[in-house]
Amino acid sequence: MTSRDNERVVLARDLVGTPEPDDFRYELCERPVVGPGQMLVEAEWLSLDPYVRALLSGRHFLRQPRAGDVLPARSVARVVDSRHAVFSIGDRVVLETGLQRRTVSNGDDAWLLHPGHSPASTALGILGMPGMTAYFGMLDVAQLKAGDTVLVSAASGPVGSMVGQIARIKGARAIGIAGGPHKCTWTVREARFDACIDYKNESVDQRLRELAPRGVDIYFDNTGGEILNTVVMGRHLAMHGRVILCGLITQYNLKDAPNGPNLGPLMACRGKILPMVVYDYENRREEFLRAAIPWFESGQLAYREDVAEGLDNAAAQFCKLMRGENFGKTLVRLL
Ligand SMILES: NC(=O)c1ccc[n+]([C@@H]2O[C@H](COP(=O)([O-])OP(=O)(O)OC[C@H]3O[C@@H](n4cnc5c(N)ncnc54)[C@H](OP(=O)(O)O)[C@@H]3O)[C@@H](O)[C@H]2O)c1
Repeated sequence: MTSRDNERVVLARDLVGTPEPDDFRYELCERPVVGPGQMLVEAEWLSLDPYVRALLSGRHFLRQPRAGDVLPARSVARVVDSRHAVFSIGDRVVLETGLQRRTVSNGDDAWLLHPGHSPASTALGILGMPGMTAYFGMLDVAQLKAGDTVLVSAASGPVGSMVGQIARIKGARAIGIAGGPHKCTWTVREARFDACIDYKNESVDQRLRELAPRGVDIYFDNTGGEILNTVVMGRHLAMHGRVILCGLITQYNLKDAPNGPNLGPLMACRGKILPMVVYDYENRREEFLRAAIPWFESGQLAYREDVAEGLDNAAAQFCKLMRGENFGKTLVRLL
């Protein structure tokens, strides 16, 4: 006897280029059964993240999903059945469920939703993994100082918007780079960046000469590609400037990685390129929340969400993210 009251999104075929909705399949499937030491959770919010595209090409250290596999996703979920020692029915947890409604978990990668995660979806965005990436990327890796000029690409997204807002909170200057006037206006008006360059309609090189004539102290790179090239090759790094390599979204849809830029100008400015990997900071999540939740509750952090309703719309929403058309943290709501 089986019941088909679960739903999920699986990879339909190996991906080539920019994802299309047909690359994924929405399915009804059996409700999983809880075993000893396990819990059954029902997702309320599912996170769609750019790294999943790199994962689907086998360009990530996590296992490459194959046709028929559920797409990876972190979620905010409620425990609806439990034979687990720690997690009880009614608990709200954050964990990796994949893009599906109901999941059985042994709880190894789960943690209780913090009361400061209000609304709960922030646990997947500005107060979640993307926010942590910005926080440790800026304070630990980039060694942000008051008075620094900080430049960040994909500035209206959850990582980029948090980078600029942390810069402002810590007494630095924040310049964003984002695609289109709507994203740039939000970045300046709501996230209170000092300026934002619309790379689709303006010359990044020329605008940086106007906005940061003495160079930027930190370039937080979420894109790679032409923007990274312009910042380094255009000699926009200040003396001892730091480039934080955080994301390469310009490459995720490409079959082969393009030839890298010649980074000779780094020598002239004694600049540093430093990698940021958020997984290295998982054991410091509490430290992040102790700092970020008071900022959030006191109204110092603006954020945007780009929400699709229902799992049957999740694949189209992921494709929108990978075309760069999302505006804010990309989510699927199952409530
Ligand atoms: N290192 C880590 O541990 C870590 C952790 C989390 C995220 N990341 C990386 O951080 C970056 C931002 O992540 P997020 O979650 O905050 O995503 P996001 O900003 O919500 O979404 C991606 C944004 O990137 C921009 N974009 C997409 N395609 C582009 C292209 N071809 N060229 C230039 N820009 C493009 C688009 O904004 P515009 O319209 O403004 O261009 C799009 O809205 C991603 O590269 C992600 O992989 C790294």
